[in-house]
Amino acid sequence: MFMEPTSTSNKRVFSGMQPSGVATIGNYLGAIRNWVAQQDQYDNLFCIVDLHAMGTLTDPDEMRENIHSLAATMFAAGLNPEIAPLFVQSDVPQHAELAWTLSNVTQFGELSRMTQFKDKSAGKDDAAINSAIFFYPVLMAADIILYDTDLVPVGDDQRQHVELTRDIATRFNTRYGDTFVIPKADIKEVGARIMSLQEPTKKMSKSDANANAYIALSDDPDVIKRKIKRAVTDSDARVSASPEKPAVTNLMQIYGILADLSLDQVEEHFSGKGYGPFKAELTDLLIESLAPIQAKLAEYKANPEEVARLLEIGRTRAAILAEAKMADVNRKTGVGGKLHR
Ligand code: TYM
Repeated sequence: MFMEPTSTSNKRVFSGMQPSGVATIGNYLGAIRNWVAQQDQYDNLFCIVDLHAMGTLTDPDEMRENIHSLAATMFAAGLNPEIAPLFVQSDVPQHAELAWTLSNVTQFGELSRMTQFKDKSAGKDDAAINSAIFFYPVLMAADIILYDTDLVPVGDDQRQHVELTRDIATRFNTRYGDTFVIPKADIKEVGARIMSLQEPTKKMSKSDANANAYIALSDDPDVIKRKIKRAVTDSDARVSASPEKPAVTNLMQIYGILADLSLDQVEEHFSGKGYGPFKAELTDLLIESLAPIQAKLAEYKANPEEVARLLEIGRTRAAILAEAKMADVNRKTGVGGKLHR
């Protein structure tokens, strides 16, 4: 049974993650860790957005495996389903339904300007661009506003999508009357942009073809050691942060978040030491920080029924809210055959 949140604020938090592969420390430091850290302050809902991942995940077995594995990872990372229900997007059909409705208040030009769409479609033939990657932000807007969301804790790469969500919600409200809460992105100053370990001007991504570019939450100590060893650095040997040193700055940021130190404190800690000792300490810190998550992940993975049970609790909670909101939306737009009052 779902317990009422013990939150001190009744602000609704909603966020989502694609099950498109292993979760990385980018996902963890930019999103999951913040969800967990503030879960007892808000009325939360978290979602595994499987419909968003259909374009990249075309094997049904892999889709099923990834959904459950990501759910297990989130619970292992500390998400407490009693105060932060987690559910799977396609289990609540109102997400797709509302996305269609919202497409009627979304302009072609707005979607064309989304940087993620531009990046993903750049240099590709029209025939090779799936329309779902164009429509994607409309479904994301539906995810968010279906639940009267106030805050959307995400990494920096999702900022533009949340801005668009605000515009879409405002336009609907203007046309049909107040219906949706206008959400705000909650993007932290640190951790919102963890970069690739191989190309530090690119964000760390779980879909990177080069596995050395990211650290997965499930990477074992040997793999972490090897990846940090191979991580690119900058030309001088000082552990200091600056825009001219994106590689070292990124590694320092990861160290700082995990050790709870500011970049200045990290610099101070390693002053007079070179990259060797820095990488060695960073490796140990990562191994130590991920070990408890990995131990719990193994427990959840050994108990798939428990993961499915927890997802069902989340679905029940989300469905109540989604059904009520969608009924209100349909009444306002006038669709459907019922005689509404
Ligand atoms: P996704 O699945 O790519 O990423 C999930 C979350 O992880 C953050 N993130 C990062 N943060 C810091 N550094 C990185 N290198 C990094 N990589 C990923 C993302 O910003 C995100 O917060 N479109 C979304 C999923 C989505 C969603 C939503 C999010 C669908 N509907 C509704 C919020 C609300 C996406 O593809 O995230």
